Parts: sequence; C-alpha cells; structure tokens
Amino acid sequence: MSQRRWDAVDSYFSDLLVRPDPTLDAALKASNAAGLPEIAVAPNQGKLLHLLARMQSAKRILEIGTLGGYSTIWLARALPPDGRLISLEYDPKHAEVARTNIAGAGLADKVEVITGRALDTLPTLAGHFDFFFIDADKMSNAEYFRWALKLSRRGSMIVVDNVVRDGEVANADSADPGVIGSRRVIEAMAAEPRVSATGLQTVGVKGYDGWAIALVIAD
Ligand code: SAH
Ligand code: DHB
Ligand code: MG
Repeated sequence: MSQRRWDAVDSYFSDLLVRPDPTLDAALKASNAAGLPEIAVAPNQGKLLHLLARMQSAKRILEIGTLGGYSTIWLARALPPDGRLISLEYDPKHAEVARTNIAGAGLADKVEVITGRALDTLPTLAGHFDFFFIDADKMSNAEYFRWALKLSRRGSMIVVDNVVRDGEVANADSADPGVIGSRRVIEAMAAEPRVSATGLQTVGVKGYDGWAIALVIAD
C-alpha cells in the first residue's frame, strides 16, 4: 500500500464527511506562512477529536501541544457555550500564531493558550477535565498521561497522538526518544487500573502512525 493511496482515501473521506472549512483552512495557511512545521492532525483526525469530545459532552478540555491551534479549533468547537479549553504550548511563536487563529475562529472567549513547558504549567491547573489531547514532545508522554489522570474524573477520555511512528512502537530496542516515550505511555496505561485503554494504527496523509485512547473508569 502506498502513501498515494492513503492520501486519496483521506481526501475522499475529508471531501465528503469533513468538507471545506474556510476558518480551518485559514488557520493552516497562517501557520504555514509563519513557518510552523506542518504536523497538525489531518482533517479527518480533527473531526474525530471533535466527535469524541462531543460524545464525552466535554465542558472542559485540556490539550498539550497547540502548534497553530488547528486541533484546538476542532476540539473547542465541540464545547457548549459555557465550555472551556486550555492548551499548553512551549514555543511562544506557536502560541501567538495559535491565539490569532483561535480568535479568527471566534473561539477566543473559550480557549486559553498557556505558554511554557507543559511540565512547568501543568501544576498550575486545577479542577477536572473531561477530555485530554496529548500531542507535544513525545518523550514526556508518560508524564503527561500521569498529569491527565490527576486532572481527570471517572469518565474522562485521554487521547495520545503519534504513538505508532511507522510501527516502531513495537520495537523494544528503538533508540528514538519519541518511540521510547510512546512505549512508556502505553506501558503506563497498561499498568494503570484506573483506565481502560486501547491503541490504534492509522494510515493517511500523516503517514503510518496511530493513537492511544484511554477511558478513566475509576476514581
Ligand atoms: N496539536 C497540534 C499539533 C501539535 S505539534 C495539532 O494537531 O494541530 C507539537 C507541539 O508541541 C509543537 O507546537 C511544540 O512546540 C509543542 N511542544 C513541544 N514540547 C513541548 C513542551 N515541553 N511543552 C508544551 N508544548 C511543547
Ligand atoms: C511530529 C509531531 C506530531 O505531533 C505529529 O502529529 C507528527 C509529527 C514530529 O514532531 O515530527
Ligand atoms: Mg501529533
């Protein structure tokens, strides 16, 4: 199977089921123009995040890794009028581009982008979140999962991006810090009785990668 085929299927799904969205297109365009890396979730993945957050009836969402705010906008659109999303971003330039994109999407009143290393800013957060999207530096994934659990309630959902990395997650000898980080978060989920979790391989415009999804099932 080729990348070209995966791209074609993503286009087919996105054209029919996600459909053009000038706000999201503008956010991507502004992010690219500002020189941000082109690593936002794919449109059909953004839509899946949105649907999952809606299934959760999420009122409070925490994202770790904002980039230009593409996934942030998808998630924030799932919120009810009084809902809130906090997104943590290390790079001040990324955070600034994201804030502009989020304002352009009419979501400035619902979304706060907090600049800083997530491991430094997570301890400033209080209360519980209904939905988590972990998509920052992969080496810290297990620690982010620990924090998410601390900030969760029974029923919260935790999604972790990029845990497959061309299948390298199954390579116990990998020296890639991202792969080591992904294996650590999978093992942390496996060892944690308060969650029920699974892993999913995906192909598409983002290549061969995948998500881990955990549901908090106990306090
Ligand atoms: N969720 C975004 C993509 C995020 S890319 C989307 O799908 O649209 C990963 C982001 O994590 C980058 O912007 C990077 O600057 C940020 N990041 C890297 N290390 C971080 C850290 N320690 N704390 C917070 N953010 C970090
Ligand atoms: C990278 C990071 C991501 O979050 C992603 O979805 C794809 C690639 C990266 O750092 O290469
Ligand atoms: Mg990602």
